[in-house]
Amino acid sequence: MQAATASPAALALDQITCTFAARPGAKGHSAGRYTAVRDTSLAVAPGEFVSVVGPTGCGKSTLLNVAAGLLAPSAGHVDIFGKRLAGINAHAGYMFQADALMPWRSALANVRAGLEFRGVPQGDASSQARDWLSRVGLGGFEDRYPHQLSGGMRKRVALAQMLILDPQLLLMDEPFSALDVQTRQLMENELLELWSANRKSVLFITHDLEEAISLSDRVIVLSAGPQTRPIGEFAIDLPRPRDVAEIRMTPRFVELHQAIWNQMKAEVLKGYAQSRQ
Ligand SMILES: Nc1ncnc2c1ncn2[C@@H]1O[C@H](COP(=O)(O)OP(=O)(O)O)[C@@H](O)[C@H]1O
Ligand SMILES: [Mg+2]
Repeated sequence: MQAATASPAALALDQITCTFAARPGAKGHSAGRYTAVRDTSLAVAPGEFVSVVGPTGCGKSTLLNVAAGLLAPSAGHVDIFGKRLAGINAHAGYMFQADALMPWRSALANVRAGLEFRGVPQGDASSQARDWLSRVGLGGFEDRYPHQLSGGMRKRVALAQMLILDPQLLLMDEPFSALDVQTRQLMENELLELWSANRKSVLFITHDLEEAISLSDRVIVLSAGPQTRPIGEFAIDLPRPRDVAEIRMTPRFVELHQAIWNQMKAEVLKGYAQSRQ
């Protein structure tokens, strides 16, 4: 239990279970039901960067959707800064694997959209959006439409779109996994730089252990499904600021990678075997 004086977690998942109607023929279901996640508790402290890793299909997005308030768990509950979550999580900003930009809006109009929805006057919203675009390295690209931007640039727009609303909690679901390796590392460094300027709490979902270690303060490993649950938790004591490409070559990184991979290996193989059935 936390002491009454300690500040509450930014995000606390408490004994979350998510059961779905099963796909026909799916393994691990009983009576037409599939329990993707079972009895999972995890917390993200204010200002902490936590990654959750686990094999594909294990329930990572399910947990993130629960934290976002997009999916009501079958059991358990979510607390955001000490308050019970009911409905959409208004403290959170999201970034998903798929591009969520509006194709009919310019980069600038995409970034200012959230402020417009909040009723901020357009002149003010535009000037903040311009500022954010230049912070993510896209000064001069304000009038481009999403189809005129590279994959990495679209991710930068999405980052600006999320950060302009100044969310206290960032929920990110494999946001960079569609990018090539170099672009991805640039984006990861960009994210760390923006994050360290103004430490928000981050729950970062990935299937990529190297990405998880290089970004995070803590890495939580999930088991393969069904009935996924956390099976390990590792503090990442690598110094900051970090360069995600360079940190991977340090002995401590290799040591952490080995320790976590030992824990993950069997689950990844299980997840792979299931995906082939
Ligand atoms: N709405 C749903 N209905 C039925 N099954 C679902 C639903 N959402 C997710 N699942 C199942 O739950 C498991 C976990 O999915 P997901 O959280 O997307 O995995 P991950 O993000 O780790 O790849 C998968 O087996 C998936 O098919
Ligand atoms: Mg997913």
